[in-house]
Amino acid sequence: MLCQRAAFLGHFARQYIRALPARTMSTNKFDLPARYQGATKSVWVEYIQLALQYKPLNLGQGFPDYHAPKYALDALASAANSPDPLANQYTRGFGHPRLVQALSRMYSGLVGHTIDPLNEVLVTVGAYEALYATIQGHVDQGDEVIIIEPFFDCYEPMVKAAGGVARFIPLVPTVTGRTISSEDWKLDPLELAKLFNEKTKMIIVNTPHNPLGKVMSRQELQMIADLCKQWNVLCVSDEVYEHMVYAPYQHVRICTLPDMWERTITIGSAGKTFSLTGWKIGWAYGPASLMRNLQMVHQNCVYTCATPIQEAIAVGFEKELNQLSSPECYFNSISTELIAKRDYMARFLEDIGMHPTIPQGGYFMVADWSKLADKVDLSQETDAQRDYRFTKWMTKTVGLQGIPPSAFYNDEHKPLGEDYVRYCFFKRDDTLERAANILSEWKNRTKSN
Ligand SMILES: Cc1ncc(COP(=O)(O)O)c(C=O)c1O
Repeated sequence: MLCQRAAFLGHFARQYIRALPARTMSTNKFDLPARYQGATKSVWVEYIQLALQYKPLNLGQGFPDYHAPKYALDALASAANSPDPLANQYTRGFGHPRLVQALSRMYSGLVGHTIDPLNEVLVTVGAYEALYATIQGHVDQGDEVIIIEPFFDCYEPMVKAAGGVARFIPLVPTVTGRTISSEDWKLDPLELAKLFNEKTKMIIVNTPHNPLGKVMSRQELQMIADLCKQWNVLCVSDEVYEHMVYAPYQHVRICTLPDMWERTITIGSAGKTFSLTGWKIGWAYGPASLMRNLQMVHQNCVYTCATPIQEAIAVGFEKELNQLSSPECYFNSISTELIAKRDYMARFLEDIGMHPTIPQGGYFMVADWSKLADKVDLSQETDAQRDYRFTKWMTKTVGLQGIPPSAFYNDEHKPLGEDYVRYCFFKRDDTLERAANILSEWKNRTKSN
């Protein structure tokens, strides 16, 4: 008995001693895992807080401040109020049947071959989850992923969280000191080629581009496609602004270039397509062999997206599919509507002395504010990056909020974004007029000082 007790105590003591170091180290036990570290600072969290505090006119975030198409809102109300008892229950995990059918019809027409709605389309929680499922579903420890800067800010942390290594290449303006086009921001083909190697698993392309508004030309995409084929690399094409392209430019889908379908995942967003960013439905499409990997991530993370919202988006697509070639089609009318807003914003930014980059697509405009440096006093702002200091000062002192583009560069390249500010022009005309007035009053104040 005594022996047994001694053995038990001995065992307990050994266990206890083994447990001790872990307990004494436990201050770090609940830290964020390393794969998420470095991703804690979010420009969105910080700038939403700034807007709440100072109540500026907010041209920072990317969404319209007016109503989305009424038929989509009505379709959601009908879906939610449907007499069908299943209308508000879980639907098919990889995408509501009616929506994947509609997406297949839409994109089969655009890519020029039939897309299998059940195996080649995945519906996700916004384009965000489509990116996440694509990256988690393909990137392994040590795989390299090429990211073009400036980049939508979640790309880098998502690659890191998957154990990948992000390799960056910036788009660089070939002209400065005056108003330019997003076409003038170029990728250096030789520098890009140098990034490809045996470890490269993926490249992420974004066209039309956030924040520059660049619409990649067929030649630029062909150059990327050739490198993908040469190095057996997967191409992720983030095309959430696909319907916002301004004549004479045209959106080219890289998956339609020769031999690219088999190695491309294309990503879209209902939030951007129907101006309903709060609905958070997106999708990915591509060959079944690649889509299977996204499905596994989605199945074990999200499983299924909101049924009535998917139903309403399907109704939206069905309506638009019947009028695709008409100017009434929302996908066509949106660009006509936005082009006037784009040009108006470009004029008032030029008036104040900024040099905008006129976007070929999307609904953001970056502008070079460096000529205004002697009119601003950034001494009270403590951020490392000049564009953060400028945008914060503008928010607090002038009452207009934009986003600092250095947030869209990796640490080493942040200086490339510091002379710029990003504004969103998908706003009501009177909102844009207020922005123009705020800037012109500021200009008058600085003149009289
Ligand atoms: C380039 C880009 N990709 C993806 C997204 C995410 O889209 P969603 O709101 O559908 O998740 C955005 C949103 O602003 C974006 O600008």
